[in-house]
Amino acid sequence: MGNWLDRAFALEAVRVTEAAAIAVVEHIGRGDEHAADHAAVEAMRRTFNFLPITGTVVIGEGERDEAPMLFIGEQVGSGGLDVDIALDPLEGTALTARALPNALAVLAMAEPGTLLNAPDVYMEKVAIGPGFPEGTVDLDRPIKDNIVSLAKAKGVHPREITALMLERPRHEKYIEEAREAGASVRLITDGDVAGIIATTSPATTGIDIYFGQGGAPEGVLAASALRCLGGQMQGRLVFRNDDERERAVKWGITDFERKYTLHDMASGDVIFAATGVTDGSMLRGVRRNPDYIITHSVVMRSTSGTVRWVEAHHARRRNGR
Ligand code: FBP
Repeated sequence: MGNWLDRAFALEAVRVTEAAAIAVVEHIGRGDEHAADHAAVEAMRRTFNFLPITGTVVIGEGERDEAPMLFIGEQVGSGGLDVDIALDPLEGTALTARALPNALAVLAMAEPGTLLNAPDVYMEKVAIGPGFPEGTVDLDRPIKDNIVSLAKAKGVHPREITALMLERPRHEKYIEEAREAGASVRLITDGDVAGIIATTSPATTGIDIYFGQGGAPEGVLAASALRCLGGQMQGRLVFRNDDERERAVKWGITDFERKYTLHDMASGDVIFAATGVTDGSMLRGVRRNPDYIITHSVVMRSTSGTVRWVEAHHARRRNGR
């Protein structure tokens, strides 16, 4: 298992997220989410084909009839090792259009059959960083209990716990409950992949716990990152209607109430790569000067636990940028 993914793939994976971020630099802060997303998808799609893999997109831009590129089931790569791929060429389209923090280009590559084939529905999530006893938080417990339990495990008063949540009307009750428990609540407008990853380094980010409903595909990407960085996460799919349930059945999901652990969402050897699009708690955003486009990325692997930070200076003239 340890040798399943050649170590070289880690750096190849970064090239793919770098390409997506570079393609977006022109669109940051220009108010056009669609153009930004399109540029990222197109660049990611193109760059994948330099990789010596037979990759199958399992989490992508949507189903075949709704996404022209990087749709679920699409094959990418120039041929070679079989891998499953979860990707989001631009996680935080609205953040990018408004030049707000924490937009990322992101992907995970894993052994075939080891990533949850999550339909594009919401997922209820709870996540904390590494170093706490298993079971410190649980999706089935009230938020208040999770905050008290985490504070106890951390050896602090609940008032010293900071919770991160997407600012959505559906979270109003959670926000109230968390504050009643004593926690400080930080709200973000978008970007729960970065939000969940932020729990893994509370000393830097100030975030102890993430919870709330975000996209299920983003849940699988975040779980892949936590498999590498450590931490705990649980998720449960949220279905709003029969159409969403039918979509889930198509991806092989029969138990609609199932609580997924980190390992249920990403069970095998996994490589996770992300490049910053806008400045964030983990990565600097892509930027340019007259000579270079500068990207800041992270790539990590679950088997080795190695985390690499990659700052790349891409010469503009030589590459026609
Ligand atoms: P996009 O980049 O696809 O717009 O997703 C951003 C995001 O904020 C995710 O991080 C999050 O999981 C999801 O949208 C939440 O969905 P909604 O905006 O419907 O609440």
